[in-house]
Amino acid sequence: MSKTVFVTGGAGFIGSNFIFHMMDKYPAYRIVCLDKLTYAGNLSTLASVLKKENFRFVKIDICDREGIYQLFEEEKPDVVVNFAAESHVDRSIEDPEVFLKTNILGTQILMDACRKFGNIRFHQVSTDEVYGDLPLDRPDLLFTEETPIHTSSPYSAAKASADLMVQAYHRTFGLPVTISRCSNNYGPYHFPEKLIPLMIANALNDKPLPVYGEGLNVRDWLYVEDHCKAIDLILHKGRIGEVYNIGGHNEMRNIDIVRLICKALDKPESLITYVADRKGHDMRYAIDPTKIHNELGWLPETRFEEGIQKTIQWYLDNREWWETIISGEYQNYYKNMYENR
Ligand code: NAD
Ligand code: TYD
Repeated sequence: MSKTVFVTGGAGFIGSNFIFHMMDKYPAYRIVCLDKLTYAGNLSTLASVLKKENFRFVKIDICDREGIYQLFEEEKPDVVVNFAAESHVDRSIEDPEVFLKTNILGTQILMDACRKFGNIRFHQVSTDEVYGDLPLDRPDLLFTEETPIHTSSPYSAAKASADLMVQAYHRTFGLPVTISRCSNNYGPYHFPEKLIPLMIANALNDKPLPVYGEGLNVRDWLYVEDHCKAIDLILHKGRIGEVYNIGGHNEMRNIDIVRLICKALDKPESLITYVADRKGHDMRYAIDPTKIHNELGWLPETRFEEGIQKTIQWYLDNREWWETIISGEYQNYYKNMYENR
């Protein structure tokens, strides 16, 4: 069977890894990547697939209703997987508006196109951050799909709003949707503004490693390929209208991650610099993935010790990719975010 799959945000971190996974596993599928190429999108990431016959890249804003409708008419997709988003919490604290535009309105425009061109299957890539955070002293508590939405940052509030719209389009218009809510990802092509790639890049350049607060916040880390495999399963076997949590029971404190990176790169821990905490900083995320395991048989395949080594090696082997990124507009971002912090 051949299918046309629209992947929005496919020039970003997880979307690009998802494209590689899909092109490898389903050579008969046509993959169309829709991406605005914001600061977070890099066409060079997609270099290995750009010339393939069953792949097309379209530079487009998901908020461009007319352009989106034209593309749906032309390509007649069978499935839309929406990764496109503004994704960085710190940026959402500095300037929330674009988060509302892309993450909420963009999602709505894509779903309107899905309705208009034949009730097309829509998958929303969401985040565990819609559940807010958990206390550090209650390790027994985990996010399930029934945990109430309780957001902290403009980023998570915008993602949660999109989720509510997706559920509304299912209930009101019968749009065939699914939603996945994943914990923190790490792996190749992760933009170096996020914790793990930022610490690797800074350590390699012998620059300070800025840890927010005391570094005690906990995140539940999942190797990006495991996330992509989970979305693939949901697309092919998931129940319409359902939410699936994705996570690998891999909770770690930020400070322990940073120390581990120092050790792996043989850099001194004296590079670690404690800086002012993030406003509204979520303490702990932890996913209960029982539903996706029981219903779809998904389990994470990459242990953290293995995944982090692979990731560090990737950043060592692909210096040009991240050095190009941090040599441009990123310099201004970094100065604004970290100078005098
Ligand atoms: P990213 O920031 O690396 O990539 C986002 C991509 O979307 C970029 O290529 C960017 O150019 C594109 N984009 C942004 N605005 C757009 C617009 N208006 N129109 C078209 N394209 C646009 O993000 P990521 O880390 O790959 O995250 C992808 C998705 O997964 C997001 O929806 C995010 O909320 C979700 N998610 C991320 C994580 C994580 O740990 N990174 C965890 C759970 C869920
Ligand atoms: P991040 O990678 O931005 O992901 P998220 O906020 O979506 O979980 O941050 C992960 C954790 O690392 C979070 O607790 C904030 C912290 N952090 C730092 O301590 N220093 C940094 O420079 C960054 C970017 C994040």
